[in-house]
Amino acid sequence: MALRSRISGTGSCVPRKVVTNQDLERIVDTSDSWISSRTGIKERRVSVGETTVVMAVKAARNALKSADISAKEIDLVVVGTVTPEMIFPSTACLVQSQLGIKSGAAAFDVSAACSGFLYALDAADKYIKAGAAKKALVIGVDQFSRIIDWKDRSTCVLFGDGAGAVVLSAGEGERGVLSSVIHSDGRHWEMLYAPGSIQPSHFEEKAANDYYVKMNGNETFKLAVRTMGKAITDIIEDAGLATEDIALLIPHQANIRIINATKERLKLPDDRVFTNIEKYGNTSAGSIPLALDEAVRAGRVKDGDIVVFVSFGGGLTWGATVVRW
Ligand SMILES: CC(C)(COP(=O)(O)OP(=O)(O)OC[C@H]1O[C@@H](n2cnc3c(N)ncnc32)[C@H](O)[C@@H]1OP(=O)(O)O)[C@@H](O)C(=O)NCCC(=O)NCCS
Repeated sequence: MALRSRISGTGSCVPRKVVTNQDLERIVDTSDSWISSRTGIKERRVSVGETTVVMAVKAARNALKSADISAKEIDLVVVGTVTPEMIFPSTACLVQSQLGIKSGAAAFDVSAACSGFLYALDAADKYIKAGAAKKALVIGVDQFSRIIDWKDRSTCVLFGDGAGAVVLSAGEGERGVLSSVIHSDGRHWEMLYAPGSIQPSHFEEKAANDYYVKMNGNETFKLAVRTMGKAITDIIEDAGLATEDIALLIPHQANIRIINATKERLKLPDDRVFTNIEKYGNTSAGSIPLALDEAVRAGRVKDGDIVVFVSFGGGLTWGATVVRW
């Protein structure tokens, strides 16, 4: 029988500091009613000392605990993040070191912005299916508070910090990842990007001193709705299923209106779509695994359920995964 990757544990971590929409009213020209009605966000978490690695390690520890395995059993660590603490080593190597994961395990980061977790999951799933890893730690984490311009109301109200993690275990049988796809279209990179602190090579004039996240909100919104809807119908078909089979859809939490439009497109009832955007905003690569962990701990996912993840983010990147729980 073919090998599958089973999600045997989930965990998450968010910073303690809560920043409400009312708090933001004091920083930029915005209002709770504008943010709530346009995005569904009421508050977000902002790191004070909880760096990318701190959040990743805590989320990973919680996932290992829920999988009831020791860090020593992990032979692969993949981290989706675009806010690493250092250019190198990778966040994955720092997580490996802090958790005491054995020397010789493989550890690397993937950069796919808000699709970072699904890119990391896709890579780990393929290692497991190929027999190259038995137990993988897959983490999605971002600290966007570091790369947001807190004077730009069009972006600062949307994002928050957070992390989520899963343990993937190789096994035979019907449960586990049934299908996983990742996609990109670099032609649209200017729709959503962060130049960062490195002197850019081929964007010199535009971005030399320009550090923060830039976004064309309207275009991103339209593409997100179109792309996520199609990604779900394609992957469900690939897995030999129908949309009615979806027990729970866990979409990237970027905007409640994007999620609702996707839900309507697929004719999914409310109770089959998980959202927690009101509490955390868009936590980029942390978004899906953080929502998954909350859904699991709230008893929203039962053995045998078909669970679908779908993401969309800068790159452009997008991806989808179907799991039989
Ligand atoms: C950003 C987003 C919420 C804007 O919502 P929108 O309904 O499209 O609003 P618009 O951009 O048309 O702006 C409408 C008005 O609100 C203003 N506005 C923008 N941000 C504001 C804020 N935080 N508070 C108050 N007003 C704001 C605009 O300046 C504009 O004013 P104008 O009409 O006088 O020019 C929406 O486009 C979005 O969510 N896009 C996708 C973003 C995303 O998900 N990115 C991450 C993908 S992973």
